[in-house]
Amino acid sequence: MTKSLNTDYFFDEAAYNTHDGGYVPLAEPKAPQQALRIPPLLKPYKETATDTYYTVEAQAGETQLLPGKKTKTWGYNTSLLGQTLVFAQGKTMHINLKNSLPELTTFHWHGLNVPGPYTDGGCHAPVYPGQTRHIDFKVDQPAATLWLHAHPCPSTAEQVWKGLAALALVTDDHEAQLPLPHTYAYGVDDVPLILQDRRFHEDNQWDYEADYDPDGVQGPTPLINGTVNPYFDVTTQRLRLRLLDGANRREWRLHFSHDLPFTQVASDGGLLPEPVAFTHLMLTCAERAEIIVDFGDVTPGETVTLYSDDVPLVRFRVHEFTPDTAVLPEHLVEIPNPDVTPDMPIRKVVMSGMDETVMMDGKKFGMQRIDAKQQVGNVELWDVTNTNDMDGGMVHPFHMHGTQFLVVSRNGHAPYPNEHGFKDTVGVNPGETVRLKVWFDHTGVYMYHCHIIEHEDGGMMAQIEVFDPQHPQTYKLMDMATLMKAVAEERGIAVKDLHLAGMSSYEKMGMEM
Ligand code: C2O
Ligand code: CU
Ligand code: CU
Repeated sequence: MTKSLNTDYFFDEAAYNTHDGGYVPLAEPKAPQQALRIPPLLKPYKETATDTYYTVEAQAGETQLLPGKKTKTWGYNTSLLGQTLVFAQGKTMHINLKNSLPELTTFHWHGLNVPGPYTDGGCHAPVYPGQTRHIDFKVDQPAATLWLHAHPCPSTAEQVWKGLAALALVTDDHEAQLPLPHTYAYGVDDVPLILQDRRFHEDNQWDYEADYDPDGVQGPTPLINGTVNPYFDVTTQRLRLRLLDGANRREWRLHFSHDLPFTQVASDGGLLPEPVAFTHLMLTCAERAEIIVDFGDVTPGETVTLYSDDVPLVRFRVHEFTPDTAVLPEHLVEIPNPDVTPDMPIRKVVMSGMDETVMMDGKKFGMQRIDAKQQVGNVELWDVTNTNDMDGGMVHPFHMHGTQFLVVSRNGHAPYPNEHGFKDTVGVNPGETVRLKVWFDHTGVYMYHCHIIEHEDGGMMAQIEVFDPQHPQTYKLMDMATLMKAVAEERGIAVKDLHLAGMSSYEKMGMEM
């Protein structure tokens, strides 16, 4: 099937988060093992052959994560994380976005090709407490594992930390016909793994402020689909794992016990052109990978453990299964590779700094400032550079809203073997320039940023207007004064007493949002 087995993490070892001054190592939880939670599928409140109707409600609640006191958490249609949405390609989605939280939030569809900035749900699409916003869009992209998360700058990181992250799975007929494990279904042989980490404080509570780090908040306890110390009962020979790095800052260096090989079949934006075999896989923030694990050589009764570095994340308890002889085709999907629009200069984007000094193109994010423009449908090259090479530097995961791009090269060399499909997030090593091929199908204002969420809140973010010269548009962009006033009112405090985490990065640099 696949030619060679990759045994490497590919990213620059010197830049791994393990070398950060503020690195918080993972530790194996002491809590008893428990069954992996599977985020339930969200039931549409109405469905026709062409249209699907959902209500997504952001809510506060409590979740039993550890023995003893429940943890105060936030989630979508549940107390933590969210119910999984399914978007069938070609269908039109109608979604009520209901905010039952005590503060304003936004609903961002990470990886979804929809118009910006309102449907896309970045910081310009606030939904105030007690209110509901409605969006409609036609699903127009190949099958993929996408996600929904809160995006109210500069509180994105805190809201995601509290639990506002859910999965959105795009499905299509082509993917459904491939011999991928999905015969038995979601939660059985098609299993999402949302990888996060938290620190539990007194009474099992999370405390974002106490753990705050401008380079990204971390905790020592792995939290997988909102489960501490999970096991999963394997009842099929092959398992499809939809991995999402849903952590604020953590990189995951994944491998199984005995270096059991696995096959990656999809990345952020859907299927890879060809399956790629690995024993080790590193994910940076917001990246997704779909992998097929084959337990054919494992004796029922044994356990196979998924690790990050040397800490166990999930124990797969292998039970009797029916032999599965399905073989993946050598070619999974055709990835379009349009020509660059003639005479377009190469766009340069620079991510610089660490801690509070983080910037994009030498500036911090300004909500009302448009930093770049690109014509809808144009195909352009973007050179995204991470200049930060101090102390080995760090990997900045570069993410774009509103599109799935192609990775052309890394410092002029071929991208990593699993970067030949569509992506919306790419880890950029220190001192590296990653060349992307970028085009947009929809007009709008879209953000692009580092997906270490505290870097994004701290200003390593910019925005682009995608325009159609035939149909010029104006957008109502959120501004800091409106945001501050709203949040201060929600909290019952004066604006001058309000402090949102990302603001400290601006203050330290003497800059305004
Ligand atoms: Cu995952 Cu600006 O988004
Ligand atoms: Cu996004
Ligand atoms: Cu960063």
